Amino acid sequence: MEWRTCNSRLALFSAAAVVVVLFSACHVSAGEGARAGTYIVHMAKHAMPAEFAEHRAWYGASLRSVSGAGAELLYAYDTVAHGFSARLTPAQARALERLPGVVAVHPERRYELHTTRTPEFLGLDRNEGLFPMTGTAADVVVGVLDTGVWPERPSFDDAGLGPVPAAWKGACEQGTNFSASACNRKLIGARFFAKGYEASMGPIDESRESRSPRDDDGHGTHTSTTAAGAARGMAPRARVAAYKVCWLGGCFSSDILAAMDAAVADGCHVLSLSLGGGSADYYSDSVAIGAFAAMEKGVLVSCSAGNAGPAAASLSNVAPWITTVGAGTLDRDFPAPVLLGDGRNYSGVSLYSGKPLPASLPLVYAGNATNSTSGNLCTPGTLIPEKVRGKVVLCDRGVNARVQKGYVVRDAGGAGMVLANTAANGEELVADAHLLPATGVGQRAGDAIRAYLRADPSPTATIAFSGTQVGVRPSPVVAAFSSRGPNAVTPEILKPDLIAPGVNILAAWTGAVGPTGLAVDPRRVEFNIISGTSMSCPHVSGLAALLRGAHPDWSPAAIRSALMTTAYSAYSGAGAGAILDVATGQAATPFDFGAGHVDPTSAVDPGLVYDLAPEDYLDFLCALNYTSLQIASVAKRPNYTCAAKPYAVSDLNYPSFSVAFATASGDGVGAAPATVEHARTLTNVGAPGTYKVAASATAQGGTVKVTVDPTELSFAKAGEKKSYTVSFTAPSLPSGSTGFGRVVWSDGKHVVASPVALTWT
Ligand SMILES: *[C@@H]1O[C@H](CO)[C@@H](O)[C@H](O)[C@H]1NC(C)=O
Ligand SMILES: *[C@@H]1O[C@H](CO)[C@@H](O)[C@H](O)[C@H]1NC(C)=O
Ligand SMILES: *[C@@H]1O[C@H](CO)[C@@H](O)[C@H](O)[C@H]1NC(C)=O
Ligand SMILES: *[C@@H]1O[C@H](CO)[C@@H](O)[C@H](O)[C@H]1NC(C)=O
Ligand SMILES: *[C@@H]1O[C@H](CO)[C@@H](O)[C@H](O)[C@H]1NC(C)=O
Ligand SMILES: *[C@@H]1O[C@H](CO)[C@@H](O)[C@H](O)[C@H]1NC(C)=O
Repeated sequence: MEWRTCNSRLALFSAAAVVVVLFSACHVSAGEGARAGTYIVHMAKHAMPAEFAEHRAWYGASLRSVSGAGAELLYAYDTVAHGFSARLTPAQARALERLPGVVAVHPERRYELHTTRTPEFLGLDRNEGLFPMTGTAADVVVGVLDTGVWPERPSFDDAGLGPVPAAWKGACEQGTNFSASACNRKLIGARFFAKGYEASMGPIDESRESRSPRDDDGHGTHTSTTAAGAARGMAPRARVAAYKVCWLGGCFSSDILAAMDAAVADGCHVLSLSLGGGSADYYSDSVAIGAFAAMEKGVLVSCSAGNAGPAAASLSNVAPWITTVGAGTLDRDFPAPVLLGDGRNYSGVSLYSGKPLPASLPLVYAGNATNSTSGNLCTPGTLIPEKVRGKVVLCDRGVNARVQKGYVVRDAGGAGMVLANTAANGEELVADAHLLPATGVGQRAGDAIRAYLRADPSPTATIAFSGTQVGVRPSPVVAAFSSRGPNAVTPEILKPDLIAPGVNILAAWTGAVGPTGLAVDPRRVEFNIISGTSMSCPHVSGLAALLRGAHPDWSPAAIRSALMTTAYSAYSGAGAGAILDVATGQAATPFDFGAGHVDPTSAVDPGLVYDLAPEDYLDFLCALNYTSLQIASVAKRPNYTCAAKPYAVSDLNYPSFSVAFATASGDGVGAAPATVEHARTLTNVGAPGTYKVAASATAQGGTVKVTVDPTELSFAKAGEKKSYTVSFTAPSLPSGSTGFGRVVWSDGKHVVASPVALTWT
């Protein structure tokens, strides 16, 4: 078997150098069978030997030369990447890496999902005239890579939409519980990608999920209708294409890359990915690689920042050609206060809408109704039924799903649940559609209720369900779960880029599971309210579609710049302070919200933008000292050579500033102040005008001097570009010190604001 492969390979490649590689490869292949995993193989497409008629044949032959005659490609990639994915042992992967034409071989990674009043909150209802709702707006297609779609929801109603845009090349793939007629003029495409998943996890269990674009989870229906749903979505005239890449066991990068490949080839203008897999170098991150090619083709890629906050440096999806979205709250709440037997009450939130609780019931702490050391968390099987029956049970938040804790309490005979935050979540309240009367309270309330439980020999409680409350102030606040900077991959690029609504978001839901997503939840709902940066990302994807419709000639970087420089980072009104961070109760910083909270009505007319072309990102890769092969992986440039000139990451024309100072060795006391210079270029996208700058920054423990040159920029016509430099001069501060500021250009009408974050390491 192995020999036949080798022989056939020898016939294909006649170069002597190849023979040596092949023999070692065959040797490896014969000695190692097990431990196979999926690898993504990037190929130098131009290097295909003349013997092959097409790339797929070359890819297949390369694969079989290291892993046997029967080996098959999982996917061949042709649009956002050149290459393929396949099952290989680590040794086979190493052998493949040595073959000519192979740029890089990376093991597959598993990604996870980053699990209304929104249009009104964002001011879109009052300003509909700003965004053209016909013509170009209706030609914009948002591709959503997620768990698929439930097409029967009213959000996919295509009434009033014209024919599918002529340029659209997508498909409506049929499969289990999904027919080709499920698509319409709103949902214009639906595909599914399961080869990578099945290669690792075995065949999809069709009794539990559909091998088709059908969404049996809810997440994908929610995100796609948030982005472009007919009724409540951000871009109600845009079209949606669903690419199902996430299955019960996760989302695999070979499938994600294949979906990005298809979505860009199909003709999507915006890609929305509410998933992530931690941070990695761009050349080994499939989402970053796919997003680079999408950017080159004018497609904006919007990704969730992750739900790993409030820890610092907890971001996913930080490549500078990706728009990285954190989460804030809305001005809407679902109050459900806890009323204690001592007459005190504590505010809580809940989406529970069933039968209310009696006026007073015994209250018990789960940690006192269990034999298990983790019983306070209400994990399955830990509560002693005799101790909780008919009572309200206080459970601590953490480890298992919030709604599952409610199920555990109900299953043990409990009548209600108070879900109390611990230090990990602080005062952040996330409303859930609990299976039993239940409410979520903050850490301070949780501590007070636990103290009451200890003090009162016969404690009692009930929960009042008060419905929906709007106009909540302050709002937005940064959600505690929203992942935070600094950017662990490239500290000189500030991430997240901005925040958008991601707490208690209402959008369409699957018909396959109830609002909790638990198998035991028999309820079925058309809409559901859930939280996460998964929910904030499609808000920005939909707004990007609106901007794309309003300005079809803008690049993805120009669209992102408009969203960022017009975002707000303080509450409105005289003397109002910076947006708060719910995790600390203090003012949030650019590491929490980037440029701030998105403000779409300003974004449509930003005045100036910081534009970027693919070449600028190549300069950025050169500044990172990437090797030729690493650049080839990310940018598919064969033999790209960086020029013999100095490159600086700080010169990437980004709409924000992240300044990394080195802490002087020793205690640094008395070290001379250091200066870091950033170069930027502004492009006028508005009327002629003169802009003046205001710039400042402060750091605890030292004075920061910010100098902008020139301080005034005059633009005579649209499209004109003007450059400036900004220098940050600061003393050496202890490692871990931070500072923040802003660089703001204004012509009196437009405010073009950039956040500044300073770090000392
Ligand atoms: C397909 O739909 C039918 C009827 O709606 C349902 O009973 C079945 O569980 C679905 N199958 C899957 C795999 O979702
Ligand atoms: C909670 O207590 C406050 C006083 O501390 C009172 O004004 C309010 O009405 C109470 N709320 C409920 C629902 O009892
Ligand atoms: C509940 O358990 C805590 C320790 O977790 C203990 O301090 C407290 O006295 C217990 N309360 C009751 C009523 O048993
Ligand atoms: C808890 O421990 C008691 C006494 O050891 C035992 O009778 C009971 O079954 C245990 N309950 C659970 C839920 O483990
Ligand atoms: C790249 O290499 C140069 C020269 O060695 C060095 O000064 C610079 O700090 C490096 N850049 C990064 C991002 O590592
Ligand atoms: C790239 O470099 C390799 C080896 O350095 C060379 O064989 C090949 O011809 C080059 N390809 C191009 C397109 O320049």
